[in-house]
Amino acid sequence: MTQDTANMTVVVTGASGRTGSRVAQSATAAGLTVRAASRAQGFDWQDRSTWARVLRGADAAYLVYPSDIGAPGVAEAVGAVAREAVGAGVRRLVLLSSRGQDRARDAEEALHASGADWTVVRAAWFAQNFSEGPLVEELRLSGELVFPAGEVREPFVDVRDIGDVVVAALTSGDRYAGQTLAVSGPRLLTFGEAVAEIAEATGRELTYRSVSARAYGERLAGFGVPEAAAGALVEAFEQLLDGRNAYLSDGVREVLGREPRDFGDFARDAAAAGTWKG
Ligand SMILES: NC(=O)c1ccc[n+]([C@@H]2O[C@H](COP(=O)([O-])OP(=O)(O)OC[C@H]3O[C@@H](n4cnc5c(N)ncnc54)[C@H](OP(=O)(O)O)[C@@H]3O)[C@@H](O)[C@H]2O)c1
Repeated sequence: MTQDTANMTVVVTGASGRTGSRVAQSATAAGLTVRAASRAQGFDWQDRSTWARVLRGADAAYLVYPSDIGAPGVAEAVGAVAREAVGAGVRRLVLLSSRGQDRARDAEEALHASGADWTVVRAAWFAQNFSEGPLVEELRLSGELVFPAGEVREPFVDVRDIGDVVVAALTSGDRYAGQTLAVSGPRLLTFGEAVAEIAEATGRELTYRSVSARAYGERLAGFGVPEAAAGALVEAFEQLLDGRNAYLSDGVREVLGREPRDFGDFARDAAAAGTWKG
């Protein structure tokens, strides 16, 4: 590490979420001071009057925008927050992005144009989508995961690796400034194979049933997900689950000098924590 981490304060947006919580853990373990920034702390991506107070006096920021800001709002919001950060002297910014998603590219370009010393971490699907967030309750309670992924293969990435990569980028001076780091897990799995590995780890009978993206959107609406949010998710799934992401990326090995965590380890850890107990 080249940066003096003892005096480094990093703003972590989405610190209560899947990736932000791991970025906060990795940053704390590396000796950084973490300033959490989500709505609970008075930071709202959709209210620019809330940004300056959170950014003031910090050295760096991890930016993760919420999934339910619909396009083109994402690029606008990322560009505006990044410009505000640069204006406040917070030049070192790491943005979480997605492999293979058009609206994520627009957000990356808005970051590039902001004048920041930027790094983009482009992630594959998270392994933790199976253990945290909206998919978990259904799998846990009914033993079935209904999802519009067909037989497509994904190299699910463990969000703990995302936290480690983000913090390594933040604490390596300029080494990763101006770079896009694509991160994935070490193996391609279908969603059915992933659920089978979770079933093995838990000892429960768990199954996967594929539906169309449109039918999945209707299910979400039936569960009370607001129309705009359901529409943004369906659009994302239609794009991301067409096979375009069925390849490995080596950002974890490149930045951390070790193999990415395997899906089987994720499944065993989450099962041991009782995640899928019926
Ligand atoms: N899921 C995947 O497989 C995957 C893969 C690649 C990239 N991504 C990207 O990852 C992002 C989601 O990240 P995540 O999974 O780490 O988050 P997450 O678990 O969905 O949590 C969302 C976080 O954002 C905060 N938040 C929500 N609305 C907010 C608002 N209006 N203003 C400020 N904070 C807000 C939430 O806290 P509060 O409720 O307290 O505000 C929470 O901390 C999306 O941009 C998605 O495109 C996801």
